[in-house]
Amino acid sequence: MPNAYISGTGGYVPERVVTNDDLVEQYGIDTTHEWIHRRTGIEARRFAEAGVGSADLGEKAARRALEAAGLQPHDLDMILFATLSPEYCFPGSGVFLQEKLGLCEGVNAKFVPALDIRNQCSGFLYGLGTATAMVQSGACKHVLLVGGETHSAALDLSTRGRTVSSLFGDGAGAVVVSATDEDRGVRGWWLGADGRYADVLCQRVWDIRNRPFIPQDEHGVGQVQPEIMWAHMEGKKVFRAAVERMCEAVITACTSQGITGEDIDLWCFHQANMRINQYVANTLGIPEEKLIHNIHKYGNTTAATIPLLMDEAVREGRLTPGMKVAAVGFGSGFTWGSAIIDW
Ligand code: UT7
Repeated sequence: MPNAYISGTGGYVPERVVTNDDLVEQYGIDTTHEWIHRRTGIEARRFAEAGVGSADLGEKAARRALEAAGLQPHDLDMILFATLSPEYCFPGSGVFLQEKLGLCEGVNAKFVPALDIRNQCSGFLYGLGTATAMVQSGACKHVLLVGGETHSAALDLSTRGRTVSSLFGDGAGAVVVSATDEDRGVRGWWLGADGRYADVLCQRVWDIRNRPFIPQDEHGVGQVQPEIMWAHMEGKKVFRAAVERMCEAVITACTSQGITGEDIDLWCFHQANMRINQYVANTLGIPEEKLIHNIHKYGNTTAATIPLLMDEAVREGRLTPGMKVAAVGFGSGFTWGSAIIDW
């Protein structure tokens, strides 16, 4: 059975920086830099311009990951796209990305499978497990895994929505998961879910159980009420569960590998809240110098946080072959996961 290793990483965030003060000054939200920073560690986030979608951000990250891996799009055998902010309800962002990468054109067209992953902040880890299994089974030699989000279009950027809208930002991260005979790569992945909490963090937009699924006015125009149009979050419940499940995911990962936290050289925690990550790190005795963060500059980019962290660490020379890396995440669903990688 081949091993599955990360042969290339890439990242992309939109140019437009929106600071906490900009939320007050440009959007009129009743908040302060101090409130957001003290509660979450966030200082700024990036917002994409209108007309830009998750597959556009994903394409830029993907091309960088392919270049780093020394591959062309036509070398890919599969695309996985983790996002909670796809262009459409259906189809998913994966097929948009496939077309943007030029895989559908000409005599060399390669109609590789494109699978969207709907697991929110755990999407990258669910994707990494899927990519690893596809490579280890021999079905694929190179799998492109993208986590990309365009949150800015779907945030209630008013005081009513401040609890959620001050947290999220746009961006994309990508990795190529490739087959190798070398003794390296993804050593294991662990995923979990608890559907009892599906409504605690969700963005409904509609409920397909209703007839019609979106209320219509007398002209047949759909009317989406603000309570379901925007994301809903019971923050304290999410915070508590995130700490508990992330600790559990780390312990499961280390126990399964017969290692301790001290054997890990670099920790890539999902970036939802700096306080959550500090709590988990303190509980498990993980030293600050082994943790990397990007929440202060990008906010919560959901499926993109972990691949963005990995890409930045590689490009800064903090993540090099031979290192043992742990990635851990938690999010809506609830869903969570972890992975141990010998880079
Ligand atoms: O990746 C997805 C997973 N998501 C998370 O992991 C998020 C987990 N939860 C959290 O990080 C925290 O719950 C938050 C940072 C979102 C909120 O912190 P909190 O301490 O739980 O605050 P809260 O929601 O209980 O709100 C406390 C007060 C409220 O005012 P009142 O009702 O006490 O008067 C809120 O209206 O803070 C108010 N508030 C704000 N004030 C200024 C909420 N958001 C803001 C804001 N600026 N942006």
